[in-house]
Amino acid sequence: MPPAHQAPADGPDLRAEGLRLAYDDRVVVEDLDLVIPSGKVTAIVGANACGKSTLLRALARLLTPKAGAVHLDGRSVHSMPTRALAQKLGILPQTPVAPEGLTVIDLVGRGRSPHQTWWRQWSSTDEEAVHEALRATAMTDLAHRAVDELSGGQRQRAWIAMAVAQGTPVMLLDEPTTYLDLAHQIDVLDLVTDLNRHQGRTVVMVLHDLNQACRYADHVIAMKAGRVAGEGAPADVITAAMVEDVFGLRCVVGEDPVSRTPLIVPMGRHHEGPSDQEVRQEGTDVSAVPVSGTTG
Ligand SMILES: Nc1ncnc2c1ncn2[C@@H]1O[C@H](COP(=O)(O)OP(=O)(O)OP(=O)(O)O)[C@@H](O)[C@H]1O
Ligand SMILES: [Mg+2]
Repeated sequence: MPPAHQAPADGPDLRAEGLRLAYDDRVVVEDLDLVIPSGKVTAIVGANACGKSTLLRALARLLTPKAGAVHLDGRSVHSMPTRALAQKLGILPQTPVAPEGLTVIDLVGRGRSPHQTWWRQWSSTDEEAVHEALRATAMTDLAHRAVDELSGGQRQRAWIAMAVAQGTPVMLLDEPTTYLDLAHQIDVLDLVTDLNRHQGRTVVMVLHDLNQACRYADHVIAMKAGRVAGEGAPADVITAAMVEDVFGLRCVVGEDPVSRTPLIVPMGRHHEGPSDQEVRQEGTDVSAVPVSGTTG
């Protein structure tokens, strides 16, 4: 088996080298090297304003680097024709805006436009892809509603449906669970898992919920102030020390009783964690026992 960092021969190879990203003179990301594991689900985590969306936008060519480059399958994304890139890589931005009055089905249909040419117009394949994406995101009943008249969560699912319909081997999702109730969050993350496992799609998603990142990602990239503070398997990256370093938050780390992945339980000023002694006491509820923590 190749190491996680090495792209399989047939999978998309997305990487960034020496990236510097800035808005005018304000540098947000500096000297960043990144390899996205092919055929895997990667979660990017980090504090507000650390540069996650900026990075995702650069990977999708929505932002031009001041230095360095993003390569997809050995080619700079900035030298690729727009259509060729859109056939390989799709992005759900953090705050997408739909044209006024556009219906859900038309929005999702726009995801198919990279697959059309003047000689190959709308086809039954496009039709199927749209309906399948609507079904997968439970948006079929809302297909003919205007996107700008939906609730925040419904609107978010409409955009996810568009990204799904685009059918790209690489999907970049910036906080795909924003606005969603807990059940719909899990639906979307399960859908991401399905797209990865059954269709081999490479997914990179920004998540704020560290427990969901641990459950749903194969690989985690923790960012701090525009740099990579840690990357690797979730259990290796998402530790109490990392949470304190990256978020300035003390926590205890237990085990998710469902997925057996790390479970982050934050403390905060008004709640202290159990002392080491309490944790060692016999009879402590095993599901509440931290495996590591910044207690005391
Ligand atoms: N269009 C812009 N123009 C100028 N500055 C920007 C722009 N977009 C983002 N920034 C700045 O760049 C920095 C990184 O922003 P970014 O959106 O990448 O953060 P983030 O990690 O995605 O945060 P969040 O978790 O809040 O979404 C912030 O300081 C932000 O104010
Ligand atoms: Mg963001």
